[in-house]
Amino acid sequence: MINIAILGFGVVGSGTAEVLTANQKFIEKRCGCEYNIKYILDLRDFPDSPFADKVVHDFNIILNDPEITIVAEMMGGSHPAYDFSIACLRAGKHVVTSNKEVVSTFGTELCKTAAENGVRYLFEASVGGGIPIIRPIINDLASNNINQISGILNGTTNYILTKMRDCGESFDTALKDAQRLGYAEANPSADVDGIDAARKIVILAALASGKLIDPKTIHTEGITAISLADTKLAALLGFAIKLIGYTKVEDNKLIAYVAPHMVPLSNPLSGINDVFNGVLVKADMVGEVMFYGPGAGKLPTASAVVADIIDIMSNKTDDTKTINWTDAKATDIADFNSYSSKRVFVFNGKSLVAGIKTVSDNGFSATLTDEMTEKEVNDIKAKLGTSLLAVYRTL
Ligand code: HSE
Repeated sequence: MINIAILGFGVVGSGTAEVLTANQKFIEKRCGCEYNIKYILDLRDFPDSPFADKVVHDFNIILNDPEITIVAEMMGGSHPAYDFSIACLRAGKHVVTSNKEVVSTFGTELCKTAAENGVRYLFEASVGGGIPIIRPIINDLASNNINQISGILNGTTNYILTKMRDCGESFDTALKDAQRLGYAEANPSADVDGIDAARKIVILAALASGKLIDPKTIHTEGITAISLADTKLAALLGFAIKLIGYTKVEDNKLIAYVAPHMVPLSNPLSGINDVFNGVLVKADMVGEVMFYGPGAGKLPTASAVVADIIDIMSNKTDDTKTINWTDAKATDIADFNSYSSKRVFVFNGKSLVAGIKTVSDNGFSATLTDEMTEKEVNDIKAKLGTSLLAVYRTL
């Protein structure tokens, strides 16, 4: 009998208990073992829940119980989630998590600690919600050098952008819906300011390069400045506005950032709507591979958490051997200012830049230009007046 403890009984924690219970019979058959949810750690009580009798408030009960061999951490936030995770790994317990904040900040140390203690630290649910992405990159793309990853990595912001564009909904209404549906972070600033996507892109960048960049140091822009006018002009130019996490490995230098992009309608990421996420991986042998699915939400994310638990229970490949990151040094990282792409300049009134194509609508205009670096964009911005409303990167 394998005993499991769940840390945090919020959206994903309760979803994990639900998935483990609803599909228990066939999961046990698949793994060749029986399991039991022995404890659920939370500050709150849940008297009406079928799991009410499992709830404990003291982490030490779990840490000191030798019967607990798998701990599923779904608390969110860095502390005490990191502290509890590392304590469990040191005590010889496997840890699985959906906590991208912890993986992106402490992943190097946690993977190393797991390997040193002969257990596993798995985080399939930390990127892309229910989409299988971490394990396929590690296992199924193992023969490839991964050159580039671009993705829609945050379900809440994609939901908001879709509702703004397709239904003319206000930002605030769409955000409230995303919160009601259980997509948004406890502090939605993490979603709308791009912080959640930054955490996810550094995890993907680490899978591609072996180097984990501190997510707080990467260029991160959110969606709060995007207007309905921008979305209309984008459509006229043949683009959709998406919040993109981007990473590229070139000449052993890594670039990673998050920003709203105008994505050409010919790029499959442009068609990913609502809470769905999509990740395009370019690798040297396979070419281009796309991953798509629900990027947030209770049962999709729990599905990925339980996949990690199943992996451990069925003693599948030991990927502690392949997750061997080092923390990125400044010399590993490419200069963001030298990054170039075609740009779209948006103006209140007439366009003041020359470019490939200009469109206008309702007093606003937008021009698609040739490739420019950040530095070139900043130089142009400094010369233009206040009628310049925004400059978008393109994919
Ligand atoms: N708030 C996150 C999102 C949850 O909207 O994508 C899934 O990581």
